[in-house]
Amino acid sequence: MPDKKKGYEFYREVLGSPKYVVAPMVDASELAWRQLSRRYNADLCYTPMFHAAVFVRDAKYRKESLQTCPEDRPLIVQFCANDPKIFLEAARLTVQMIDCDAIDLNLGCPQIIAKRGHFGSYLQDEWDLIHSIISLASKELNIPITAKCRVFPELEKTIKYAQMLESAGAELITVHGRTREQKGPLTGLANWSYIKAVKESVKVPVFANGNIQCRDDADRCIKETGVDGVMSAEGNLTNPALFAGKDPPVWEMALEYLDLVDTYPCPNSYVRGHLFKMLHHCLQIEENFDLREMIAKTSEMSQFREAVVKLKERYIDYYLGTKEYSNEEEAARLNIKLPPWICQPYVRQSPEEYKAKMAKIREEQAKTGADKTLPPAAPAVKRLNENGEEEVVLSKRKQKKMERNPHKAFSKFPGRRTTRNIPNIDGENSLQVLFHHTEIGKNFFSTRATKDWNNLPVNVKSTDKISVFKKLLDKYIETLI
Ligand SMILES: Cc1cc2nc3c(=O)[nH]c(=O)nc-3n(C[C@H](O)[C@H](O)[C@H](O)COP(=O)(O)O)c2cc1C
Repeated sequence: MPDKKKGYEFYREVLGSPKYVVAPMVDASELAWRQLSRRYNADLCYTPMFHAAVFVRDAKYRKESLQTCPEDRPLIVQFCANDPKIFLEAARLTVQMIDCDAIDLNLGCPQIIAKRGHFGSYLQDEWDLIHSIISLASKELNIPITAKCRVFPELEKTIKYAQMLESAGAELITVHGRTREQKGPLTGLANWSYIKAVKESVKVPVFANGNIQCRDDADRCIKETGVDGVMSAEGNLTNPALFAGKDPPVWEMALEYLDLVDTYPCPNSYVRGHLFKMLHHCLQIEENFDLREMIAKTSEMSQFREAVVKLKERYIDYYLGTKEYSNEEEAARLNIKLPPWICQPYVRQSPEEYKAKMAKIREEQAKTGADKTLPPAAPAVKRLNENGEEEVVLSKRKQKKMERNPHKAFSKFPGRRTTRNIPNIDGENSLQVLFHHTEIGKNFFSTRATKDWNNLPVNVKSTDKISVFKKLLDKYIETLI
């Protein structure tokens, strides 16, 4: 086996001196997406993050995760891990199964799931552990180990952290210039000056991550920070041709992606996610709500395609200039600079705007009382059972729901219901929590927007008392303001 290349030798001779890099993205940097991005000037791609422990114990997960093809190079496979031996084993299995160029350790994930699972950015205070994860794999394996991290609020600590990663054996470091706390509505801007300082303090190559939404950003970042390459996630998702410096119409990218999915299949949820991101602005316009619904509901590739083709039919004349499009109001509402059918980034509100909005919500809640009372639910349906006793049964609607989802607990007991709007971690949408104050004396709650439920960083069970839950929610809202 040839000697392992290190640092700049690895960067130049193995990776081919990549400047433009597609970020690791769970459910989004899958093979079809990587191939699309590579067609538009991405020099290097990362796989989504895989969970090392699950990867080691579950052969099916391994096989599904490691989809690749000969053209899918250079490629870095990313894992989250908190155990040196498990990271080593996951990396070893990877190189046995596929050809790839490095194994990356995720030290940046700030999500609640990472906190619960003790990985990603929640390891960033455990330097000995990180050091041992990287150094063991680096010593034992013939493939380079790399790391992707966030910055600390303190510059000195950030520099020491990167130097620690280098001394452990990381052959390349990606620095996401945001702190662990900069997530969801508090994301804000990445700090390139910290990335620059890291670049000047280590000898291995450095990639910068954060604030890359167009090709100009990418080139400016390289110039301002001196890094070897730039990595993009959200910018790349809204415009896969970003690194080529192009702003194509959304249908062009979407249809090309769907063709690639035909060749390199992936779960429907990934396809749906990509279409929603690429078509984001068009799908905010009322006349396209039918297409939004179609994409949301279907699990057929033909329907995904049909939705995109219909969108194209609606805007192609404007795109070609045979009809004039002017809708300044819409553009202001959507906060976009280009027409909505052109691939372009989604501009998040700033943390300051978000905080102001939250303060207003709190003010209103204080004025009106936090909970909004709903009319009581339909009365309980009671029947006689075979012993002649009266028994509360589920309503027909609930019985139907239960057939569809036998593991879900449904309440038989109607009573007073109240709702409370809770901002979720993404800020924009609020989660509506529905409390049932039951007749039998035991309070419990359920949620309407269960999709966002896992994002609520409060640890409660549906059997907890409402008062306990409300206190936790209040505490959570405090942290956002
Ligand atoms: C959909 C999505 C999935 C992500 N998944 C991962 C991941 O698997 N591993 C990782 O290190 N970072 C992940 N990230 C974070 C990005 O790699 C990147 O660090 C972050 O989005 C900042 O870059 P940006 O400003 O270009 O979006 C993800 C980001 C997005 C938007």
